[in-house]
Amino acid sequence: MSSKSSSKDAQNPVPRPAANALWGGRFAAGPADIMSRINASIKFDQRLFAQDIAGSRAHCEMLVAQGIVSAEDGAQICSGLDTILAEINAGEFQFSEALEDIHMNIEARLTELIGPAAGRLHTARSRNDQVATDFKLWTRDAIDAVIGQLAALRDVLLDRAEEAADAVMPGFTHLQSAQPVTFGHHLMAYYEMFGRDLARFRDARVRLNESPLGSAALAGTSFPIDRMATAAALGFDRPTRNSLDGVSDRDFALEFLSAAAICATHLSRIAEEIVIWSSAQFGFVTLPDSFSTGSSIMPQKRNPDAAELARAKTGRIIGALNALLIVMKGLPLAYSKDMQEDKEQLFDAADNLELCLAAMGGMLAELQFDREKMAAAAGLGFSTATDLADWLVRELNLPFRQAHHVVGEIVKLAEARKVGLEALRLDELQSVEPRITDDARAVLSVQASVASRSSAGGTAPDQVRAAIAAARRGEG
Ligand code: ARG
Repeated sequence: MSSKSSSKDAQNPVPRPAANALWGGRFAAGPADIMSRINASIKFDQRLFAQDIAGSRAHCEMLVAQGIVSAEDGAQICSGLDTILAEINAGEFQFSEALEDIHMNIEARLTELIGPAAGRLHTARSRNDQVATDFKLWTRDAIDAVIGQLAALRDVLLDRAEEAADAVMPGFTHLQSAQPVTFGHHLMAYYEMFGRDLARFRDARVRLNESPLGSAALAGTSFPIDRMATAAALGFDRPTRNSLDGVSDRDFALEFLSAAAICATHLSRIAEEIVIWSSAQFGFVTLPDSFSTGSSIMPQKRNPDAAELARAKTGRIIGALNALLIVMKGLPLAYSKDMQEDKEQLFDAADNLELCLAAMGGMLAELQFDREKMAAAAGLGFSTATDLADWLVRELNLPFRQAHHVVGEIVKLAEARKVGLEALRLDELQSVEPRITDDARAVLSVQASVASRSSAGGTAPDQVRAAIAAARRGEG
């Protein structure tokens, strides 16, 4: 059956569209419909239009300056590019799948607008260096946007940490009560994490900022181009040093995605904490109405959906990093079409990171924290047991291991009586270690506990305030 129908197809071939006007010189017919569909990137790479036009303009001006293209043709090309930019900005541009990608859509429209002179723009250039340039420019803008958002988020954290510098809360390890900390100290931990993210994005930007333009298809060009000029015109620090690397490098995208994945992981961790803290069982924080959702059946609900979504979107950002690493890992030099798969991953990760940074920033700026509930919880779980052990070391000169053992016995006693350490009578404490005096009980309060942890970087309110002041002076 199938061989019969295919021989029939061979006699009556499906009419194919004409060959592509931009590369179809050696082709008799255009691509199959499915070929166009798998090949075309215009649906997503149209986001590169502004970068593509900026790159073309820089290239064209350089070609004119080098005497490779005449001033008249150059002027026509540049004014045509301006028209196209205006058309796209006004939503009047017709993007066509048959023209594959943003580069060919723009070039085809340029030909419509100015005629054969348009064909001179692609002298000494290939779509390979063109797309690498466009995508770097886009990624650079995305980095700048993330840097701005991270700085804003850190400002929010500083303000909230200052307010909460002496608000005690339980500090956890294994999500078990460990030692009391201050909420300000906890928020400043995130300030540090987002500071490292900021440094990673800044660092990636430095390495990104070399211009691939002029690498041409892979080997460079025989025309006397000026790569310094195009690099400078596009705000790059210098041209890339190797043309093969220039067209085949996507490290800048991988670095963006790595930094984004780590940053999103930090956002996810604080999102998770907000989910826990805002539960009725914890009750440490209340989300503002503007960042809560209700339930259609349970009238009492105030759900932390935005925090949950930030936590979940981290998955797709990490996924984008994985996807692009897997695309790149098997590619020989130089360009392969596989690399067209870089864009959707990066666009999606950048969009979602931007959304998560904004949502978590808004939530943190406005959430209310309940000092009393946090302080009450801070005393649960014998959280000042270490303070008592430290007292035994300091006042009775016990070795720490022995002090640890003594306090373990005392905790057992309190557990049996179902009370906190501070509720034990002196004679009960002395039944375990007779030299304990009444002074020991002073170290059992959560306020005394946090105030005593005044080592550098510790949770004592004075240390937290010092860290905030240093951060405000730009020292961190
Ligand atoms: N749309 C392509 C991409 O995004 C542009 C480069 C095409 N180069 C080529 N030799 N087919 O990667």
